[in-house]
Amino acid sequence: MTALTIVLTGASGGIGSAVAKMMSAAGHRLILVGRNPQPLNDLRDMLDGSARHTTVVADLLQAADRKRLVTQCKQDCSKVDVLINNAGVSHFGLLENISDQAMADMLNTNVLAPVLIVRDLLPLLSRSSNATIINIGSTFGSIGYPGFSGYSASKFALRGFTEALRRELAEQLITVHYLAPRAVDTPMNSASVKALNAELGNAMDPPEIVAAACHALLKARDGRNRYLGWPERFFVRINALIPALVDVTLRKQLRTIQKYSRPEA
Ligand SMILES: NC(=O)c1ccc[n+]([C@@H]2O[C@H](COP(=O)([O-])OP(=O)(O)OC[C@H]3O[C@@H](n4cnc5c(N)ncnc54)[C@H](OP(=O)(O)O)[C@@H]3O)[C@@H](O)[C@H]2O)c1
Repeated sequence: MTALTIVLTGASGGIGSAVAKMMSAAGHRLILVGRNPQPLNDLRDMLDGSARHTTVVADLLQAADRKRLVTQCKQDCSKVDVLINNAGVSHFGLLENISDQAMADMLNTNVLAPVLIVRDLLPLLSRSSNATIINIGSTFGSIGYPGFSGYSASKFALRGFTEALRRELAEQLITVHYLAPRAVDTPMNSASVKALNAELGNAMDPPEIVAAACHALLKARDGRNRYLGWPERFFVRINALIPALVDVTLRKQLRTIQKYSRPEA
């Protein structure tokens, strides 16, 4: 595969770092985006061919920062081949305990920011004959999960945006993917979420699984959604066809979810 220029948001996080390592090892050039310079610089320094990668310190909730990201991309490269919208936040808890700020954080970071970044990078993506957008979703973007109502809402919205955009760009050479991991072992998950998953027997994948799926999408470029993990992939189907069955399963988990979602837990 030819070397691609990849804009990766949330590069310094658990999944982002694994994606950056896999893509750099494959010879691609990365534009690494995050809010904190130190972890971004540390990451760049450890990547294969570190000199060919750049970092952009940007809070994607700030219009001026998003503008600076686009300007930097224009300055550094004639085109962007791949945009991976990976930056995201999650606040676990019953809705009654989620603050205005936490809810706004999830909806703005997980939906509004990627939508606006796609819009603003479309001109640079249009110049590539391999243009690919990968929106990192979640199993909870197809299965509304108790304790994650705001997060689920954000990932359902991201999935809807991906579907609409894919159809809107059907006449162009831009492939749009939605990649939905199940739980992944990264700093995003608090100790309570990890304990909840352990008690419920929910598997947590290493971030390298998601990185490998991203890498595979660059070759497939088939514009199909991907759901990682079994039985989660199966439950996504069941939830779409017979949601009442999933209601019964999640009703049985509710007391456990409530226990771990207490603010002091
Ligand atoms: N971990 C899971 O269980 C799981 C499961 C399914 C899907 N996902 C999805 O996978 C993606 C990556 O998650 P992760 O587990 O790798 O989380 P993580 O380790 O917490 O990393 C999140 C990344 O997003 C960046 N970020 C957050 N807010 C930002 C903002 N306003 N502007 C710029 N960057 C921002 C963070 O960098 P700074 O803080 O330095 O800015 C960090 O690099 C997310 O979209 C998440 O929803 C995760």
